[in-house]
Amino acid sequence: MALFRESTGYLDFARFGPPSNAVLAERSRLTEYAAVAGPTTVDDLMRQDLRARAAVARLCRTDTDHVVLLPNTSTGLFQAAFGVRGEVVVSAAEFPSNTYPWARAADARPRWVSHVCEIPEAVTGETAAISLSAVDFRTGYRADLAAMREVAGDRVLIVDGIQGFGVVDEPWEVADVLVVGGQKWLRAGWSTGFMVLSDRALERLDPVLSGWTGAEDPGLFDDSVHQPAPLAAAWSLTNLSPIAAGALNVALELVEQAGIARIEAEISAKVDELGEVVRRAGGQIVSSFDPARRAGILAFTVPGNPAETVGAALNAEGISATTRPEHVRLSPHVSTTADTIDQLAIALKRVTSNNRAATPPARDEIRGSNPTRR
Ligand SMILES: Cc1ncc(COP(=O)(O)O)c(C=O)c1O
Repeated sequence: MALFRESTGYLDFARFGPPSNAVLAERSRLTEYAAVAGPTTVDDLMRQDLRARAAVARLCRTDTDHVVLLPNTSTGLFQAAFGVRGEVVVSAAEFPSNTYPWARAADARPRWVSHVCEIPEAVTGETAAISLSAVDFRTGYRADLAAMREVAGDRVLIVDGIQGFGVVDEPWEVADVLVVGGQKWLRAGWSTGFMVLSDRALERLDPVLSGWTGAEDPGLFDDSVHQPAPLAAAWSLTNLSPIAAGALNVALELVEQAGIARIEAEISAKVDELGEVVRRAGGQIVSSFDPARRAGILAFTVPGNPAETVGAALNAEGISATTRPEHVRLSPHVSTTADTIDQLAIALKRVTSNNRAATPPARDEIRGSNPTRR
C-alpha cells in the first residue's frame, strides 16, 4: 500500500505536510471508536497520550516524563516565554510564532537581533535564555544547535524545531525546550505537536501557563487550585485530543521505521534535484549550498521576475510552492516523485521563456548571440 498520496506537483511541505495514509487510517479508526463510545472508551482513547509521548521520547533520546503534547508550536513557545524571567536573545526574523510570545510574556525581556547568526554576540551576563528555530522558515538555514548549546552555556536554550524535526538528524537533546508542531514535515495533520523539556528547563522555568491537567491530582475536584504536577506534566494546559495524539504517534512511528538518517538523505537528494532544475532554468538559489546548513527548504529567485509572478505561474502549472515577497520556496519530501520534479522543470521553463519573449533582448545579447548555439 502506498504510504502517501499528495498530488503531483506538491512541493510545499514547509507549509503543510499532507498526512500519510497511516495517519488518515488512525484518525478515522479512533474517530469511529469515539462515535460508538461506551463506559471505557474515553479512558482507552486517553492512553494515546502516553503512546505519543513514548514515541517522542524515543526520537528525542529522553523519557516520557520530559514530554508534553501540544496542539501546535505557538502554544509551547508561549508557555516557554511565560516561564522565562529575564533577558531572552531572539531574532526578529524568526517565524512570528517565536516573536509574539517574547513580546507578550510578562517577565521576559526580549533582546532582539536581526539574524540567528548574531545571537552569540548578543548574549550577555544578563541573558537568561536564547530562542531560535532549528531551521529558518524562509531560506531553510539550519542552525548549528550544538554550537548554540555552547553559546548558551548554562542558560536556557529554546528551540522551535518544526521546520527540522523529521527532516534532519539533529542533537535535539541539546535543547532545554524543544517545541514541534506535527502538521508539516511529520505529516501528522493539524492540531498535533509536542514539547520536550530538559531538567534545566524544569528547574529554571515557571510553568505559569499550567492548566488543570498540569496540576497534581487532576481528577480530584475539591474546589482548590492544586500545585503543579512534577516534571513536564506541569506544562499541560489541558488534554490534547486523543485522536490528534493517536495521529501524532503513528506519524512518529513512521519516521522511526524509515529512520531519520534515510529520510534526511532522501530529502537532501530531492533538494539537490530541485536546485538543479532551478539553476537550469536560470534561477538563483537563495538557500545555503552546504548540506550541513540546510534542511528541506529551497528558496530561489528568477532574475528579472518578481517572486510573486514566478510563484503565480508555478501555481498555475500545478506546482504547490510558497511565494514570499523576496523569493519562492520549494520543499520536497521523501514522497516527492520524478513526475513532480519534471513538472517543475516544465513550469519553470515556461516562466523563463515567457519572460524572454516579453523582454526585448539587450544590445549585447544581440551582438553576442550565436545562432548555432540556440
Ligand atoms: C519556524 C516555524 N515555527 C512555527 C510555525 C507554525 O506555528 P504553529 O504550529 O503555532 O502554527 C511555522 C510555520 O507555520 C514555522 O515555519
